[in-house]
Amino acid sequence: MGLMKSLFTNCACPKGIMGRLMLKFMNACHASLTNWGLGLIHFQDGWTMLDIGCGGGATLRRLLRRSHGCTVYGLDISEESVAKARALNKSLLNKRVFVNQGSAAELPYPDGQFDLVTAVETVYFWPDLPHYFGEVRRVLKKGGRFAIIVEVVDTDSKWVQIVDGMQAFPPEQLKQLLIDAGFSLIEIHQRKPSYATVIAVK
Ligand SMILES: C[S@@+](CC[C@H](N)C(=O)[O-])C[C@H]1O[C@@H](n2cnc3c(N)ncnc32)[C@H](O)[C@@H]1O
Repeated sequence: MGLMKSLFTNCACPKGIMGRLMLKFMNACHASLTNWGLGLIHFQDGWTMLDIGCGGGATLRRLLRRSHGCTVYGLDISEESVAKARALNKSLLNKRVFVNQGSAAELPYPDGQFDLVTAVETVYFWPDLPHYFGEVRRVLKKGGRFAIIVEVVDTDSKWVQIVDGMQAFPPEQLKQLLIDAGFSLIEIHQRKPSYATVIAVK
């Protein structure tokens, strides 16, 4: 396997030294996309929020800055991601920031807990979107929002070839899947080069 393929395969589930490198890289490189996507959400103070596929934890920090007095939860399937996200948010860990290892397939939270759920650059790796979106809807409060933030939207993108297990979803397809999962008021926002944010309401 080429070095590049081996490095980027760590996007799906970061592991070991390559995984740690990739998490550092993603924390920095996803800043512009994530800040743009979060800027489309009308945050309120005191929110309880969940970032699924939290990777190295930079989105958790970004969420903390947008809602005064909020509590943020991070979930990731990778042990390496969880360790990095905890380290990055050490000062507020287990006070206002909670990070757990687990899968979006079975969210370890009760029904109706969150005002906002975010998924940044991670739905590519969710093998059964209808089921996973149903789980997100379950843990949202009524009126709560789900924001999907991605930058690979073409099904024939080179990234889909490079990264094992990756699938790309055009925003219109995400919208239909969200409607099918029972969400409403779906907004699609797009910005060059290929940024997309899809926001849905429970
Ligand atoms: C490309 S990285 C993005 C990380 C972070 N959101 C960011 O923007 O930097 C994708 C992350 O999703 C996680 N992930 C993949 N499948 C997942 C699943 N089923 N449940 C939870 N996390 C998952 C991976 O472990 C990885 O940390």
